[in-house]
Amino acid sequence: GAGHLLAPSILSADFARLGEEVERVAEAGCEVIHVDVMDNHYVPNLTIGPLVCAAIRPRTRAVIDVHLMVRPVDALVPLFAKAGADIISFHPEASDHPDRTLGLIRELGCRAGLALNPATPLTHLDHVMDRLDLILVMSVNPGFGGQSFIPSAFDKIAQIRRRIDGHRERTGRDIRLEVDGGIKPDNIRTVADAGADLFVAGSAIFGAPDADGGYRGVVGRMRA
Ligand code: DX5
Ligand code: ZN
Repeated sequence: GAGHLLAPSILSADFARLGEEVERVAEAGCEVIHVDVMDNHYVPNLTIGPLVCAAIRPRTRAVIDVHLMVRPVDALVPLFAKAGADIISFHPEASDHPDRTLGLIRELGCRAGLALNPATPLTHLDHVMDRLDLILVMSVNPGFGGQSFIPSAFDKIAQIRRRIDGHRERTGRDIRLEVDGGIKPDNIRTVADAGADLFVAGSAIFGAPDADGGYRGVVGRMRA
């Protein structure tokens, strides 16, 4: 439905034309740009640093959603905040003090998120809900685009949806539920029905350009 906020992951974009790719998905109506940062320590892959975030910042008014798959985390947070990140999420297992890292992200003026891997239990949320603007549910194991959706994510999404709704009723503050990994036109509605409201899609979007090089077609199919 129209409520599906889409966050194309640039990991699957053409890095030789990254600025144009960012402009094209924004033109196609995507509200968020998902930036996958991998350091070859926390995950077995190496992608981009703050320089690339700074390079794409002026190319779009879309929200820049930085997903840090790095360890350690804290030293990189100010660099991405300065590079124009609007949201910064990290994996709690990669920080010695997740509550402090969440506070650091917010002190720098960014919205803060925790990214939960498929095997990461929801207990990591227990004492930090007041510090969270976003919960990122990984429906693949982090490190690569083009993987298949892991079905155990459905139950986690539903449980987290209930926790977010309870928190909003108690505090009036909403927390976004983002799902990341293996999202396609043929499963996004089921994932939305489970309770997600922000959808990362890398290979599904950048792997399906229109004849003119734009992405209106596949974005339309993701929203149908
Ligand atoms: C994986 C990344 C995801 C990935 C999504 O570690 O966090 O954002 O790029 O790519 P697809 O949509 O192709 O699974
Ligand atoms: Zn990601």
